[in-house]
Amino acid sequence: MPPGSRVGLVVNGRPGVDPYGRPDLYDLEYADLVEDRAFYVSAAVDTVGQVLELGAGTGRLTIPIAEAGQQVVAVERAEAMRERLAVRAQMAGVADRIDIVDGDFRSLRLGRRFASVLLPFNALHHCADEDDLAGLFATVAAHLEPGGRFLFDAYLPDWELYARAPGRYEHRLLKVGDAMMPSWESSEWDPDTWTHHVWYHFGEGAQGTSLHLVLHMYPLATLRSAMTDAGLTPEFDAEDFEGTPLTRRSVRWVGRWTTQRTEQKSSS
Ligand SMILES: C[S@@+](CC[C@H](N)C(=O)[O-])C[C@H]1O[C@@H](n2cnc3c(N)ncnc32)[C@H](O)[C@@H]1O
Repeated sequence: MPPGSRVGLVVNGRPGVDPYGRPDLYDLEYADLVEDRAFYVSAAVDTVGQVLELGAGTGRLTIPIAEAGQQVVAVERAEAMRERLAVRAQMAGVADRIDIVDGDFRSLRLGRRFASVLLPFNALHHCADEDDLAGLFATVAAHLEPGGRFLFDAYLPDWELYARAPGRYEHRLLKVGDAMMPSWESSEWDPDTWTHHVWYHFGEGAQGTSLHLVLHMYPLATLRSAMTDAGLTPEFDAEDFEGTPLTRRSVRWVGRWTTQRTEQKSSS
């Protein structure tokens, strides 16, 4: 069965399709999501030289950045997402501004540095453990110029959401061509592994498809110390893209961190 094909629709029994094998459904789900666009596009446009985007997906942000005139190196692990990004870039007339790279952000080394590295839309929750996180932030540090900026957003644990009884929520009707397709979400928190399972269901009954997104969650302190260990320091932290200060109740973290302006001399 090819990646992204329809498999059983079991939800709490867990199966479901890899969401990054179905870029068409990914784009349908997030067609209206623009709240993060100004944050990333304005930072990208202010950057001298190319911008590095990690986990670029189908180009939801990559393409607006390129349309604003910036050159982007777009790293993406999932082949289906890269293919759709390439098609979308062609259609938008910005393919010459986007270098699409097949890479893993936990270990990537391009051998060059950038003034801005972007990690949008919760991509760090694909790090399954603290070794993965350390690899990701080492990648960020290895690709930032001295004084360069790392922009990201991530979820913080949402205990009210996790306490909710499993069940369908966020019922919607999505426009597909001339037809309307029903859609709903369901989720389950695994307290043993700190994993949030989210299913996005599209279509009716057995004809439908369930995407199963697995998000590995971390306390804010764990994320901050992994970034500090990689040599990054905070410039801006907030709970949204408008800059509302973080509190203990925040369920999202939007940040801009930086590296030292001068390379540290080796102590040896
Ligand atoms: C939540 S999506 C964000 C996509 C896009 N940046 C956006 O804002 O719509 C996360 C993306 O990161 C990619 N990804 C996950 N783990 C990765 C890894 N280790 N290396 C590179 N890309 C990865 C996924 O395939 C997916 O396309």
